[in-house]
Amino acid sequence: MTLRAKLVLALMIVALVPMGVALALPMLQAERQARQEASRRLERARRQAGILIEREKKEVVSRLAQVAAELARDRPDRLPLWQGAAAAGPVALALAERYGLDHLEVRDSRGALLAVSDADPRSDPAVDLPSLEEGEVALRPLPYPSYAADRRVAYFIRRTASLGRGAFTLIGGRIVGRALIEGISAIVEQPAALVDGSDRMVELAGDPSTAAPAITGDIPLGEGGWRVRVFVPAGDARETRRGLVAAFARTAPLAAASALLVGLLLAGGISRSIQALAARAEATAVEAAGEPLSPIQGGDEVGRLALAFDRMLEALSQSERQRGAAERIAAWQEVARRIAHEVKNPLSPIRLAVENLRRSRLKAPLEFERSFEAETATILEEVESLRKLVEEFSLFARLPRPQAVACDLRQVVAQTLAFFAPRVQAAGVTVEVADEGFSEPVMADPEQIGRALRNVVANALDALEDLGPQGERRLTIALRPMVAARGGARARCAEIEVRDTGVGFEPETLRRVFEPYFTTRAGRGGTGLGMAIAYRIVAEHGGRVLADGAPGRGATITLRLPVEGPPAAGPEGARPGTTSPRGVPA
Ligand SMILES: Nc1ncnc2c1ncn2[C@@H]1O[C@H](COP(=O)(O)OP(=O)(O)OP(=O)(O)O)[C@@H](O)[C@H]1O
Ligand SMILES: [Mg+2]
Repeated sequence: MTLRAKLVLALMIVALVPMGVALALPMLQAERQARQEASRRLERARRQAGILIEREKKEVVSRLAQVAAELARDRPDRLPLWQGAAAAGPVALALAERYGLDHLEVRDSRGALLAVSDADPRSDPAVDLPSLEEGEVALRPLPYPSYAADRRVAYFIRRTASLGRGAFTLIGGRIVGRALIEGISAIVEQPAALVDGSDRMVELAGDPSTAAPAITGDIPLGEGGWRVRVFVPAGDARETRRGLVAAFARTAPLAAASALLVGLLLAGGISRSIQALAARAEATAVEAAGEPLSPIQGGDEVGRLALAFDRMLEALSQSERQRGAAERIAAWQEVARRIAHEVKNPLSPIRLAVENLRRSRLKAPLEFERSFEAETATILEEVESLRKLVEEFSLFARLPRPQAVACDLRQVVAQTLAFFAPRVQAAGVTVEVADEGFSEPVMADPEQIGRALRNVVANALDALEDLGPQGERRLTIALRPMVAARGGARARCAEIEVRDTGVGFEPETLRRVFEPYFTTRAGRGGTGLGMAIAYRIVAEHGGRVLADGAPGRGATITLRLPVEGPPAAGPEGARPGTTSPRGVPA
């Protein structure tokens, strides 16, 4: 992902996330409030329902007390006669109805049923009723299966009453059913249900779906898992949520679009500066520090960085220029010194020979004849060495411009190796040619490239011959394609790498290897021009020569040539800084 895309994305996130958060927070808050409100309402409903249920229990107690009071008043002595009497049932029923009981039983002190208000007094129905604690209200199933479905459980109360001459047991019950549930529903203003032990709603008042989504609360009625359930609408934050989502949907595209726009503008500026900076850094890496570069705009940090970078480049190239000038002067001095030395050397023998000749002319003609041969031979020899020196120097100074043609470098390598074959054999050197996949022709002057390569291989052989008897003598020439930065662009190149296992470079030699007349082989016929010439030739082709190595590690010289050939000749020929190695007078 490009820097620009990243910046735009970051800006969009920065714009949208807080917006989303700002909308989500009230949404969550509304939901929480709604939930709290719902549980408050439920609590209230439970409390109200609980009060009604308690009231219902008290109701049973007070109504049975009223029945007892009436029995005590009217018929305490007739009660024992009720057992088995057909009229007893209706009397009990009438009493129950008058005092609002759904069930009324009268038993004697031994527990025998005297009268019951319900339908079938002969089958003693009091299944659970004797288990009632005296004076305590308890929820029990209704004893008669014939009761309607809604008459299932009731609150019962048992009390012993001393009536006339005996003590009797009275049992009263009020059904917990529709009436109670409707009462609860009315008072809490929400649907309510009677739920049995297996969680079945057996009575329902109101429609729970009107409260949906609802939260429910159960109020236990007594034993057997019976309870009253109230429904309270779960706080409804849906409206708030919908509104906020709609607001988000409306504003998000706008925010995203403006973030995108601002992002593009900002990121464009930033990434342009950075791209320019990167291009400049690349150009610098490609030795173009001296070239004028278009200014980077902008007063922000990147602009300032670019400016600082420019100043640093300027300072660097200035100091480079100064150093280059100093080195060139030093190199010229060295060249002048060496030429003076080389020219002076033959002068003394010539002068001596001439003096000898003049002296011997005064002597006997035979002797003059003898010394004439010897002295003129010396003079000719020295003049010849002077001529050679001058020739080489002028050759170096007037190297013709390369005549580039499509040139097969493999052939140049082969010819060079053929040229050195006798020397390679004599020195026992193993030669290896590594073709690392370069096959296309390179625009170059085969004559000149051959000459450069010969100078490099000659040095390698010199270095191999200087090795002791044990050293491995190997010369490897590799030919490979590569891409190099050139003038800020990428250029396809070919590399000829000459690697030897010879004595290697001393650091000082490595530093000065391309300097004309720098040689460590002065006593052995070295002029110190071989590498300078190779460098000059390759530079004239728009390429460069690299040297590497250390004592004991051999040496590697790489000739890198652009496939497209030498750059077009400018008014001053090749560009400065590329034709001259450090220290070489350009
Ligand atoms: N492959 C190499 N291994 C070790 N030293 C090298 C190698 N190539 C060059 N040199 C060093 O660099 C110096 C300069 O090399 P250059 O070819 O310019 O001059 P030269 O070989 O001394 O003389 P000539 O002009 O005869 O070639 C050499 O004297 C030698 O010390
Ligand atoms: Mg040489």
